[in-house]
Amino acid sequence: MRKPFIAGNWKMNKTPSEAKVLAADLVNQLKDSTNKLLVAPSFTCLATVAEVVKGSNIMLGAQNMATVEQGAHTGETSVLMLKDLGVEAVILGHSERRHIYGETDAMINQKVKLAIAHGLEVLLCVGETIDEREAGKAVDVVNTQLEEGLKDVAEADLKFVTIAYEPVWAIGTGKTATPQDAQDIHLAARSKVADLYSKDAADKICIQYGGSVNASNVKELMGQPDIDGGLIGGASLTPDAFLPIANFNK
Ligand code: 13P
Repeated sequence: MRKPFIAGNWKMNKTPSEAKVLAADLVNQLKDSTNKLLVAPSFTCLATVAEVVKGSNIMLGAQNMATVEQGAHTGETSVLMLKDLGVEAVILGHSERRHIYGETDAMINQKVKLAIAHGLEVLLCVGETIDEREAGKAVDVVNTQLEEGLKDVAEADLKFVTIAYEPVWAIGTGKTATPQDAQDIHLAARSKVADLYSKDAADKICIQYGGSVNASNVKELMGQPDIDGGLIGGASLTPDAFLPIANFNK
């Protein structure tokens, strides 16, 4: 049985003081949740939020990290720095990193392996653009991103990996994939994991959906057999919007 996993990607929102207030509110209001929960504030908020979520049922995530451990990489953030702050997971390959900042599957794969080597969980984001979807290539794109992103990752290390399917056209647009469209890709992604690894690995891996998830559509999306959780952007920025999502099964 896969445990529902709801994660908030705060993206480039919230100052450290604002993040502290939001995190404290969530810790307080979600303390009875049995779902797996995570918040991913920006780098500048991690230290503050780490103090707030410490000892709670909310995991601390980062939104990105460098491909290498340390050195002359101005502006980058190291896995060692994240670990030292108490970060437990990292979002990698988000479409905004791929499309705005030119991250390639090869770079993302380096990051995935480095994070796992340091015992961080990874939320590996995959998803097609609208042009790719309209060209009938959604499954191919996701399959390639999975194959490249997970290259040389051992089956035993998949316990560190969550896949987040985020169709690019649904992110921040208010356009959600229909539950059936999302389910179709989730099923295809799970089959890809079975091809790359095994049926057992495919059965165990958590696959989140992301893209305009809100309180009104969360239940139907999470009701799909291969959707195991959500990676939430805009609706993770206030308790009013996030709590009904985090508590979708309550
Ligand atoms: P929205 O929920 O704002 O569409 O963002 C989804 C997302 O990109 C989460 O990583």
